[in-house]
Amino acid sequence: MKKYIIETWGCQMNEHDSEKLAGMLANMGYLECDDKKDADLIIYNTCCVRENAELKVYGNLGQLKPLKQKNPDMIIGVCGCMMQQAHIVEHIKEKYPFVDLIFGTHNLHNFPVLLANCKQTDNMLVEVWDQEGEIVEGLPSIRKYGLKAFVNIMYGCNNFCTYCIVPYTRGRERSRKPDDIVEEIKNLVDNGTKEVTLLGQNVNSYGKTLEKPIDFADLLYQINGIERLERIRFMTSHPKDVSSKLIKAIAECDKVCEHIHLPVQAGSNRVLKSMNRKYTKEQYLKLVEDIKKAVPNISITTDIIVGFPGETEKDFIDTLDVVEKVKYDNAFTFIYSIRKGTPAAKMEDQIPDDVKHERFNRLLEILHKGVEEQNAKLKDQIVEVLVEGTSKNDDDVLMGRTRTNKVVNFKGSKDLIGEILKVKVTNPKKFSLFGELLE
Ligand code: SAH
Ligand code: SF4
Ligand code: F3S
Repeated sequence: MKKYIIETWGCQMNEHDSEKLAGMLANMGYLECDDKKDADLIIYNTCCVRENAELKVYGNLGQLKPLKQKNPDMIIGVCGCMMQQAHIVEHIKEKYPFVDLIFGTHNLHNFPVLLANCKQTDNMLVEVWDQEGEIVEGLPSIRKYGLKAFVNIMYGCNNFCTYCIVPYTRGRERSRKPDDIVEEIKNLVDNGTKEVTLLGQNVNSYGKTLEKPIDFADLLYQINGIERLERIRFMTSHPKDVSSKLIKAIAECDKVCEHIHLPVQAGSNRVLKSMNRKYTKEQYLKLVEDIKKAVPNISITTDIIVGFPGETEKDFIDTLDVVEKVKYDNAFTFIYSIRKGTPAAKMEDQIPDDVKHERFNRLLEILHKGVEEQNAKLKDQIVEVLVEGTSKNDDDVLMGRTRTNKVVNFKGSKDLIGEILKVKVTNPKKFSLFGELLE
């Protein structure tokens, strides 16, 4: 049997795309393996949201050269967001000519044909579509975790935040039909899935491209009605599109978890405008207040960019102010990275690296203090945990997540994996909680 390895960089969209590739490969009789030396096929599913992500891919590609020399029959494929950019494809052709197959995000469903064609030629096969086609339903998929599954509800993005490459790599926004989504989730539940994460770059604008009127809140109510499904998560929510109807749906649907990922990106109104985010600091803080009021104990997480072009010390203080006021449960923090082809790349006043790093460190300090405070509130509280597996370091320690998406470690037997249990938090730490299983 032929063996494959898929390595994935980037967000859940990419992870889920890799699950689809794995599904197609399984249908072709391929088996997954761990060691690149044993692989007949290596696929890199790439991300270009920041320069770091790209550099990692190039570094890893370079390491494949000696392997390919030893095993010329091995096929190397590169796909994902990076490939949607012509200058990157050119760079790969020039510097990594040993790559056999290049394809993009819009023609992932054609992978079996591409692979077959690739095997019949000695040249590099490059097929990238500039534009998204129709949504393709029914692709097989091998989910990494049976208990938890990603489900795309929409693809693409229309927001064009001025720093962001995603609208160029993932195309325009388009939604899957609710029936297709519900059908997929029912099938997952029949196969043991307890928790789904609904994926979209901006789930709050779900439904806008569909003929029958439906919005994200309606979809949540529909999915909430699926029997034996335990938990519903979703990401990402763009603050500009969170309606009061959606907040009500989150509060009313018992399966929808008490967690919202609400990227703020920056605190200064001037910077937010220049980022094309379409909300102000005041609107964001009011939104957070409304959500907290409607869903007590909800955890709020965010994405923050430091050092956007033109960001002054005063602007940055506004970001710190939002962090202090909201008290995030967690945050992904990024140093602004120039993305070729985006409007912000051409803006004047790019911020020097040392200033970006200095601000980044200050942000982390304040953020971590807040996260620690949030976790400390959970001391002696009883939380509901879905047990996902054992702890990385200790086989007798189980690891699970609360509905608020916090990791909890506690002693227990492996038979409990997959169960939803009550755990008392005994020792809250900055990045995880330790607890005791209640009998
Ligand atoms: N659709 C999601 C996330 C997309 S990318 C959303 O709108 O929130 C994930 C995060 O990467 C973004 O939220 C942003 O914080 C960060 N990001 C995107 N482009 C970036 C860039 N050029 N430099 C630094 N961070 C960036
Ligand atoms: Fe990028 Fe903005 Fe779209 Fe998110 S909403 S993917 S940050 S353009
Ligand atoms: Fe995701 Fe990276 Fe593409 S964040 S959408 S994999 S550019």
